[in-house]
Amino acid sequence: MTDAVLMEARDLRRHYAVGGGMFGKRGTVRAVDGVSFTLGAGDTLAIVGESGCGKSTLARMATLMEPPTEGELLIDGAPTANADAQERRKLRLSVQMVFQNPYGSLNPRKTVGAILEEPLIINKRGDHAARVAAVRAMMAKVGLREDQYGRYPHMFSGGQRQRIAIARALMLNPRVVVADEPVSALDVSIQAQVLNLLMDLQDEFRLAYLFISHDLSVVRHIAREVLVMYCGRPVEHGAKEAIFAQPRHPYTRVLLAATPSADRRARPVAEPVRGEPPSPLAPPPGCAFASRCPHATDRCTAERPELREVDGQRVACHHAEAIG
Ligand SMILES: Nc1ncnc2c1ncn2[C@@H]1O[C@H](COP(=O)(O)OP(=O)(O)OP(=O)(O)O)[C@@H](O)[C@H]1O
Ligand SMILES: [Mg+2]
Repeated sequence: MTDAVLMEARDLRRHYAVGGGMFGKRGTVRAVDGVSFTLGAGDTLAIVGESGCGKSTLARMATLMEPPTEGELLIDGAPTANADAQERRKLRLSVQMVFQNPYGSLNPRKTVGAILEEPLIINKRGDHAARVAAVRAMMAKVGLREDQYGRYPHMFSGGQRQRIAIARALMLNPRVVVADEPVSALDVSIQAQVLNLLMDLQDEFRLAYLFISHDLSVVRHIAREVLVMYCGRPVEHGAKEAIFAQPRHPYTRVLLAATPSADRRARPVAEPVRGEPPSPLAPPPGCAFASRCPHATDRCTAERPELREVDGQRVACHHAEAIG
């Protein structure tokens, strides 16, 4: 594909100073520590990793809710760091967010019609009649019925509420949608419906998705590229097919082995995972995964592996060749 790059992350980092109170030891949490990617129209990049690895922090940077501590986020090729207030407002409109919990993010006192009309009102789009028409058209696109226009969020199922949240994110014609665990709160059967909807909408509007999930099986169909994070750092990044067919990082293999799959042939031999991730306040000097890794050697505990190319995939592991 030769699509223009809509969003580019260059070595994004977000560090938080924590502690220093009565009980806490002062320290720095490197929530995101060096993530780079590009995203074009029609692309889906899945960000995958277990709880606390920095996924939501990355999402907040991608939606301009938080600035990076270091690194750069470019939208349409332009750096976002020095954008003035008016430019930032425009940039924010082009990147919209869908959250995990649609119940928490939808105002319970407003009808679906009002919820979907609100972004149009705030941004002064059209008169009332035009806005209502736009809301009705979007409801149809996300699979909500006309007679549901006047209903309140609590009258919907979880899957339908996520349809409302998706519709709201699309009301202002964004080009990039950042979805943070958008189906994690839903039953498996409903997950598939919402994922199919997201893919249909992507085709129709040429959307770019940054799709965040702790669960590799969820991204299996929707992703084009997968970036696996561990303790704030990317450990493997490549085409979806390659990551599923031949995961090179031991952590990716562990994630994949824990993933239920209809196609068991594509599953690598399960490898045991021991222990917990290291404390984000005291990351080890070498590979953060070494303490849990069946392949770890002295080099792994001493020297941090950088992301490097191995057979067209990018992997941060000293032993990637031996493992793959
Ligand atoms: N505002 C903050 N101040 C201090 N630490 C933070 C802050 N936000 C996040 N962190 C820390 O940064 C790390 C990454 O958090 P983040 O929420 O991005 O992870 P996540 O991958 O989204 O996890 P989950 O799957 O549980 O949602 C965690 O150690 C978290 O405690
Ligand atoms: Mg999160």
